[in-house]
Amino acid sequence: MIVLGFESSCDETGVALVDASGQGVPRLLSHALFSQIDMHQAYGGVVPELASRDHIRRVLPLTSQVMADAGHSLKDVDVVAYTRGPGLAGALLVGAGVACAIAAALGKPVMGMHHLEGHLLSPFLSVDPPEFPFVALLVSGGHTQLMRVDRVGSYELLGESIDDAAGEAFDKSAKLMGLPYPGGPHLAKLAEQGDGAAFKLPRPLLHSGNLDFSFAGLKTAVLTQVKKLIAVRAEPVEAWPDSLRADLAASTQAAIVDVLVKKSMVAMVQTGLNRLVVAGGVGANALLRSELNAACAKRHVRVHYPELHLCTDNGAMIALAAGMRLQAGLESLQGGYTFDVLPRWSLQACSS
Ligand code: KG4
Ligand code: ZN
Repeated sequence: MIVLGFESSCDETGVALVDASGQGVPRLLSHALFSQIDMHQAYGGVVPELASRDHIRRVLPLTSQVMADAGHSLKDVDVVAYTRGPGLAGALLVGAGVACAIAAALGKPVMGMHHLEGHLLSPFLSVDPPEFPFVALLVSGGHTQLMRVDRVGSYELLGESIDDAAGEAFDKSAKLMGLPYPGGPHLAKLAEQGDGAAFKLPRPLLHSGNLDFSFAGLKTAVLTQVKKLIAVRAEPVEAWPDSLRADLAASTQAAIVDVLVKKSMVAMVQTGLNRLVVAGGVGANALLRSELNAACAKRHVRVHYPELHLCTDNGAMIALAAGMRLQAGLESLQGGYTFDVLPRWSLQACSS
């Protein structure tokens, strides 16, 4: 069972080929990715119309590359999968349109996938795949959620951000510090030279007793700090000494990571489970990984991550999720190539 997967929900065009034969964990045969970051950087964020147009330019060359790298031709494909949502409507339509056109030309079935299910299952492609059941910490640019996952297709929301996502908190704070888009990795790099205890920043909802998150207040606290320092120093953030910016970056990162780690540990206690899976772009953060590793080791919890290059958006996770749903018997494959996309779509809607 060869699955061809397309991801185009935001600013990365991803295409991948996965072998989901039998009942073992699907095997990644090849994948190709084009990131639009350089194009959007000039605007300080993703420009949806530019994103859609660039997906159109990239998707077919990437598909040819994936086929050549795997030594397969389109005739070998059994199922075509694409990200149906959530994401930018125009960007999603490109992947959906191409996937349905290819599937129609081949006379093969097509599957519209949930982007977050892809992220959540992506650690199954790592050298140390998890086993069900587990708690998932999903930390991306648009979502921060803790979920209980008993099997493929069973996603129980335990808590989520009531305002900004963790990735958004990284990106917005980074922007305030004069760092380029997307700020998360730049802030993390700058933080390596800084002192995480230099600035006292809030840890919202840390002791709320539930598993919800809130990061909007942290961003406001960073803004207040930046404004204060600009006034005192009488110079813009770009002119500050590197050590000062690094201290603010490290303190911001420490606050976000602290909340993510503590809430994850509460989720482990509440569910009684002993496996944690981390997924989404912020899962690439080195401090988050080391702090989670330490906290989990203390509590005899096994923690699993996607391979670093599969933390952010990619086609492999979409092909993988489709393959795993098929293996679990959750999908009945049909022809029919009309499609729609779901820019807002909760993962619970795909849970059974
Ligand atoms: O999962 P993802 O690629 O896209 C969404 O589905 O949103 O996540 C992107 C987010 C961005 O906010 C980005 O700044 C953040 O992940 N990110 C990081 C790191 N790498 C990516 N945040 C902190 N540290 C990193 N190393
Ligand atoms: Zn994503």
